[in-house]
Formats: sequence, structure tokens, C-alpha cells
Amino acid sequence: MIIPIKKQLSFLIIIITEEREYMTVQIIDGKTIAEALRAEIKTQVEERIAKGFPQPGLATILVGEDPASQVYVRSKHRACEEAGMQSLGYNLPADTPQEKIGDLIKELNQDKKIHGILVQLPLPKNLDEEEILNTVALEKDVDGFHPINIGRLAQKGREPLAIPCTPAGVIYLLKTVLPSLEGKHAVVLGRSNIVGMPVSLLLVRENATVTICHSKTVDLPAVVREANILVVAIGKPEMVRGDWLKPGAVVIDVGVNRVEDPSRDRGYRLVGDVAFEEACEVASAVTPVPGGVGPMTIAMLLRNTLTAAERLG
Ligand code: GUN
Repeated sequence: MIIPIKKQLSFLIIIITEEREYMTVQIIDGKTIAEALRAEIKTQVEERIAKGFPQPGLATILVGEDPASQVYVRSKHRACEEAGMQSLGYNLPADTPQEKIGDLIKELNQDKKIHGILVQLPLPKNLDEEEILNTVALEKDVDGFHPINIGRLAQKGREPLAIPCTPAGVIYLLKTVLPSLEGKHAVVLGRSNIVGMPVSLLLVRENATVTICHSKTVDLPAVVREANILVVAIGKPEMVRGDWLKPGAVVIDVGVNRVEDPSRDRGYRLVGDVAFEEACEVASAVTPVPGGVGPMTIAMLLRNTLTAAERLG
């Protein structure tokens, strides 16, 4: 049967329209994935203790009164407790001299009960962050921020002792939807030491082709539109719009931003760096905020602390 060309075209248009309507987005549930990981780590801690090894111990150092950092550090201690690990918190005033922080780290480096040391970032501006991170014993660097660990991460054929927690969580979540990242074009928005740069290095190690964007990038939406994988860590509420995305992209939103919301009792709600509802219309998979990357950071910290304890005995 010969169908007139006009009819064929309208048939095609219907198929395309229907395919778009039926494309469902996968919401990557970081909360549930992190809970499963934390349960596994808790079991491994119990097994370790049953064999007669000491409880893994994490020390945190928080300098100053940054409210977001206080919340993060409290969550890290709660998670340690739930996983059967010991945790020690040092909360120091913002004007603590550099040498005093150095001395505390040196003491913790020698402490047999402590297997991991975490200096919460950012530090007050007057402190030399590089020197402080360099003082942490390499084998107790559960954040993976020691210059040697970061250097190893950046080099082929070298293995860091620990991988930074948020970037490790990003890769873990990506692999739940894309088991191989090889050959994918990954675009990373942000080049911070904590997220953007290490996540870019990890993506290179996964054989992705990586573009790093930042405040000086020209025509950001056009670059983002090329991404099979998009990782966003820029700290700007809902900056990435749905029409910036390539259809079918996998979007990992690392941003956590408070925006005013009088309809909530607390007066604000949390949003990511990506306009979530819009992204859901275009992407194949998206992380929510909250409940996406955030819970993974803590799960990865527990994993790094257990690994450090296993190495130290
Ligand atoms: N500040 C924000 N994220 C992190 C993190 O993963 N580790 C530390 N130490 N500080 C942070």
C-alpha cells in the first residue's frame, strides 16, 4: 500500500510526540542508596570489632561559627555513632592561631584511637588551608584533600589513599544509572577544590571526556547542551534551566541553596543549582535536592574512615 507523503509525515510526528511524552525521568535516590551503604559499613565495623580490632575513630576540626559547617559536622558525628564508630569533635574559635591547629593535628596524627582526621572547610580566611591540610598524616586523610592524595588523583597510574567524599558520591550515583562512563561527554560546572576539580579528575579516570566550566566560560548554556553527563556545583539556586540540557542527559546536582519560602514553618526551602522540575522534563536521570548527593558525602566519609582504620590496624 502506498501512503501519500503528507500522511507519512503526520504519522512520524505523532510517533515523535508520543516518545517524548513517554520518556520518564529517573530520580536518583541518594538518600536510599546512602542508607544501604551505611548499613553495609555498620556491619563491616561490627565484624572488625568482633575480630578484636579497635573501633574506627574520626576526629573533626571545625574552626569558627559557620552555621552550614556546624550542621554538616554534627551530621558527620551522628553518622559515625550510628555506624558504630567513635568520633571526637574539636570546635575552635575563628581566631585560633595557625600553630595551635597544627599542634592539634600533630597530636591526632599520633593518637592510636583516631584513624581519620577531617578539617571542615572552608577555614577562616586568616588561616593557611594548604599548610593545615598538609599537616594531616597522609594515612589519616579521610577527606582526600592532602596535597599528596590530590596529586595522586591527578596523575595516571597513581592511587590516592582516599578520594574526596562528595566527588566519590557523585561518581557512585552516576554509576547507578550509567555503569560505564567511558566515552561520555561530562560537563562539570564549578572548579572548586572540594567538588568541581576532584570530580573532574575522577571523571577523567573513568575515561569520560571532560569539560570544566566556570564563571568565565563563554555561552554556558551552549556548552551544557553538549553534555551526556552534567555535574553542577556552583552554589547558585536553580541557575541551570531545563532548556540548557541535552535530551536524555544524566544530571547530578551538588548545590544546596536556601531560598526564602514563607509557606514553610522555617521560612525557607532547599533547592539545588538546577531547576529540578524543568530538568525532569528533559533529562533521563536527575538527583533531587535534598536527598541526592548530600547523603552520599557522609556515606563516603564513613567508608574512607573504615578503610583508614583497616589500613592502620
Ligand atoms: N566542606 C564542604 N564539603 C566538605 C567536605 O567534604 N569535607 C570537608 N572537610 N569540608 C567540606
